[in-house]
Amino acid sequence: MTAPKKLFVKTYGCQMNVYDSERMAEVLGEQGYQPTDTAEDADMILLNTCHIREKAAEKVYSELGRLKGLKAENPDLKIGVTGCVAQAEGEEIMRRQPAVDLVVGPQSYHRLPQMEARVREGGKALDTDFPEEDKFDTLKRRPKAARAPSAFLTVQEGCDKFCAFCVVPYTRGAETSRPVARILEEARDLVERGVREVTLLGQNVNAYHGLGADGREQSLAALIWALNDIDGLERIRFTTSHPNDMTDDLIEAHGACEKLMPYLHLPVQSGSDKILKRMNRSHTSESYLRVIERIRAARPDILMSGDFIVGFPEETEEDFQATLDLIEEVKYGYAYSFKYSTRPGTPAAERTQVDAAEADERLQRIQALITRQQQDIQKAMVGRSARVLVEKPGREAGQMVGKSEYLHAVHIENSDAAVGDIVPVRIIGAKRNSLAAIRQE
Ligand code: SAH
Ligand code: SF4
Ligand code: F3S
Repeated sequence: MTAPKKLFVKTYGCQMNVYDSERMAEVLGEQGYQPTDTAEDADMILLNTCHIREKAAEKVYSELGRLKGLKAENPDLKIGVTGCVAQAEGEEIMRRQPAVDLVVGPQSYHRLPQMEARVREGGKALDTDFPEEDKFDTLKRRPKAARAPSAFLTVQEGCDKFCAFCVVPYTRGAETSRPVARILEEARDLVERGVREVTLLGQNVNAYHGLGADGREQSLAALIWALNDIDGLERIRFTTSHPNDMTDDLIEAHGACEKLMPYLHLPVQSGSDKILKRMNRSHTSESYLRVIERIRAARPDILMSGDFIVGFPEETEEDFQATLDLIEEVKYGYAYSFKYSTRPGTPAAERTQVDAAEADERLQRIQALITRQQQDIQKAMVGRSARVLVEKPGREAGQMVGKSEYLHAVHIENSDAAVGDIVPVRIIGAKRNSLAAIRQE
């Protein structure tokens, strides 16, 4: 019997790439590949890449430069590039790094088995199509292995919004939604393997409009209500949402659906209406704040999170100040801020860029404000009760680590809780990136 081939997958970028990496490992499992954690052992290396900012894309080439040396030691080693850099740069990747055997974009992962066969025979394989067939049919979760208590589940992919800075509409393609029945089937299967929390994924997840059993399109809220009925599934989250797609039924669900967690990632990018317009965001700071007001009316304790870009072309100090003001007003539990990165082919790439040192300085200021808010909110949790989904043992004896409803990392001291339990706790302390808690009966 020949030894099984080994697959090493390195994942960059967003949660959807994490989900996709799992599906690719499963599909290649059927071709006889077993996962490995070390590139040195591998017969196939896949870099599942991100194109969102220049740094993310360049990292891939430096990693490829490192990995090509491994081919000298193992002539059978095949190297593949998947994900958004694969989609955006295609053949150019093989030109820049000839050691690459395979390039496949996110919409063609179901064709990996045929591509693998081609590279095994010594050929090269390239696929950056947007095919008609449903890749999720082929990429179904296969091995009935136990899973961690929390899992991602892609329900929607692609984006039609075309924000002026963003590559996603080009790398992930047009917006598509999976049918409700398929998602419910996948969720039930996850629950059978021990999963208690699912995070529904989509680049524009709240634009979800998958077909229901009656052949009519269903909203994300309707999907969440259907998932709410699955026994054994305890928690539902979704990400990432666009402010314009926060429909009434979704806002209502935040107040009424018991399994939907009180946490919402709702990127706004800027607080300046001039910049929002130039970003083609199609909302204003005022309309964004109104949406949050309505969500908080439905679910007063909801924890808000967001994304910000600083140094977008033509952003003045005054525009930037408007962003800081908006952050002060919303009070984010978590927020992610990025310096604008020019992406070839996007409309903003052609415009007058903000001075780099200026942008760096703004990034520091916004991050200081965000960190302060985050810590204030964590400190305000001390003394409160929470329910924690236990994910793994902590570093100290008897300690278990998990997530609260609000997605805070919580360390439970001296706990006999098991992985997968949801336990009531009392928060007794706030550290930089986590909360300390004791179990409450
Ligand atoms: N689907 C998500 C966006 C994914 S990208 C959404 O619609 O929210 C995640 C974040 O990266 C974006 O929210 C934005 O803040 C940031 N980003 C996107 N393009 C960028 C660019 N060119 N430069 C800097 N940050 C960018
Ligand atoms: Fe990118 Fe999100 Fe804008 Fe779509 S809505 S273009 S994914 S930032
Ligand atoms: Fe990156 Fe593609 Fe996700 S560009 S953020 S991996 S959708």
